[in-house]
Amino acid sequence: MTTNQPIRPRRNRTTAAVRGLVRETELQVRHLIYPYFILPGENRSEPIPSMPGIARMTTDLMLADMAQCMEMGLCSFILFPVVPEEWKDATASYSFQEGNFYVEAIAAAKKQFPGCCIVTDVALDPYSSDGHDGLVREGQILNDETLPILGKMALLQAQAGADLIGPSDMMDGRVGYIRAVLDEAGFTNTGIMSYTAKYASGFYGPFRDALESAPKFGDKKTYQMDPANRLEALREAELDEAEGADFLMVKPALSYLDVIRTLKDQTALPIAAYNVSGEYAMVKAAAEKGWLDHNRIVDEILLSIHRAGAEVVISYHAKDWAIRHN
Ligand code: PBG
Repeated sequence: MTTNQPIRPRRNRTTAAVRGLVRETELQVRHLIYPYFILPGENRSEPIPSMPGIARMTTDLMLADMAQCMEMGLCSFILFPVVPEEWKDATASYSFQEGNFYVEAIAAAKKQFPGCCIVTDVALDPYSSDGHDGLVREGQILNDETLPILGKMALLQAQAGADLIGPSDMMDGRVGYIRAVLDEAGFTNTGIMSYTAKYASGFYGPFRDALESAPKFGDKKTYQMDPANRLEALREAELDEAEGADFLMVKPALSYLDVIRTLKDQTALPIAAYNVSGEYAMVKAAAEKGWLDHNRIVDEILLSIHRAGAEVVISYHAKDWAIRHN
């Protein structure tokens, strides 16, 4: 028997119950990582104008905020230091100074919340008077000379109890270098979440405001990737995997959903995506103007990053999402 009736995909959208049966992806709070910008000292919090709802804060206030997150099951965090200008120098020496406020914050978080997961940041820029992720000589960003500093920084963070070391610097060979340093010191259980495909992006603007870490000259195009390239991300992924990375990250997220999917199809390693500061700022600005429905857009953005293939989504929206889905 034949029929002239069209095939009707709409039948599977008829009711909420049917839609629930066929829904393919579901974001859960366990997939999210929430960032903090840490200030030295105590009891101080400073709003970041280009990131409404996000503040820099001292460790004590971070711990209080984390307690709220932990209660909702939001238990993974990524920490960045806000280093005063006068502590910055050409070799980023504060980054590997024992007992610096950043590693103290990591240790305090792990002490207060043993069940949390702390992801760190490894790169020179928050500590560098040049504002670059590597050492600078005569206007060049040095690769191999930067690695020992990254290694020292990573080791200090591992000693403080970090769960995942997060090299965001894009120097060649740094994942293997850091893995060797950690293993040699006995930190075989400390993982590496590598910023595998980190693009030279305009979307980092508000983050650089937050840290006052913008490069003092030039740009980051000799180490961060060209936004035009997808296959190059595969090459970076193969290297990071071979060097011992435990997670591969794509950053930013929204303009790079194809790269997330490419890596997801290529590797058995978990993929993380960083929904960065500029992506956050755009949503907040449009919502403030009443041009978009904030909550709906946030849910759709985080879901789409997850659907593209990122198990893990790092986002400034994470706490707000957790509150609304608690
Ligand atoms: C630098 C670093 C950056 C971000 C995380 N680590 C900025 C940059 O590369 O200049 C950006 C995060 C964001 O925009 O939310 N190591």
